[in-house]
Amino acid sequence: MEIKKVGVIGCGLMGAGIAETAAKAGFPVSVREVSDELLKKGRTRIENSLSRAVEKGKATPQDKEAALVRITGTTKLSDLADCDLVIEAVIENMEEKKKLFKELDGIVKSSALFASNTSSLPITDMAAVTKRSANFVGLHFFNPVPVMKLVEVVKTVVTSEEAFQTAKSFGEKLGKTVVVAKDTPGFVVNLLFVPYLLDAVRAFEKGVASREDIDNGMKLGCGHPMGPLELLDFVGIDTTYYIAEIMFDEFKDDHYAAPPLMRRLVAAGFLGRKTGRGIYEYDEKGNKK
Ligand code: CAA
Repeated sequence: MEIKKVGVIGCGLMGAGIAETAAKAGFPVSVREVSDELLKKGRTRIENSLSRAVEKGKATPQDKEAALVRITGTTKLSDLADCDLVIEAVIENMEEKKKLFKELDGIVKSSALFASNTSSLPITDMAAVTKRSANFVGLHFFNPVPVMKLVEVVKTVVTSEEAFQTAKSFGEKLGKTVVVAKDTPGFVVNLLFVPYLLDAVRAFEKGVASREDIDNGMKLGCGHPMGPLELLDFVGIDTTYYIAEIMFDEFKDDHYAAPPLMRRLVAAGFLGRKTGRGIYEYDEKGNKK
């Protein structure tokens, strides 16, 4: 299997990052959003990130232009018909993903590889709605995708060795380090990371320390680039909450149960940096107030 053209479904935070990273690695990319407005927003996100890469000396202005030329936006799934790999990065909702993959299965050439960027939903369940379950993997990227050096490649019990090797080599071509995981909730990283974030909220809820001291504790005491509460705002309180719910459903273990404060922040629409308020408050530029 050779990957020549990549399709990305969704141009939000993760989809835009994946499209940008694949284009920077030299792949032509078709990225699909549901509306022109969301496509425009996604393209701006990609342009801003590429400009930042130039500012930081990680890319030249020519690299930026070349990457942008390789990315084509579309609202039609049929424009992805000739892709060799299609990566889904839509909302973390199993029914939405199944519906999408079922439709894609009838559109995209049968030899193409399908991948989901889900952080915790079972890949096997998505593969089962297609006629290409052997050609189906998980490709789980980390936010911000152009910066974070890891991708988890998830091999299900049905994934063929050829499909798995193709996905692994694709991850490496993007310049990422590949971690191989089984199709179990949270794979490797979120299995360890999500309980850590939940425990930080529990500590804050119990009044163990202030939000700043919890974050400084882990930043300065353990050398993490961000403390757990600011990281929670960065990832999205809703996103983390949904992942925790999925993991709790699977394991029935309190360790994965979202703490009451988190549930309430989601209900109130305080979802973190993206809504201007989460555990912390943010200005329009996303800087902490
Ligand atoms: N393109 C390429 N490189 C870029 C870039 C861009 N757009 N923007 C920044 N960089 C590079 C910088 O050049 C710098 O590289 P060096 O270390 O080689 O100098 C590096 O990225 C860090 O950039 P900055 O110093 O400008 O940025 P920062 O200090 O503000 O760091 C951060 C920002 C990278 C987000 C950092 O705070 C961090 O690593 N935070 C933790 C993020 C994290 O844990 N993400 C995972 C979340 S979990 C997830 O995503 C999975 C899930 O399922 C929930």
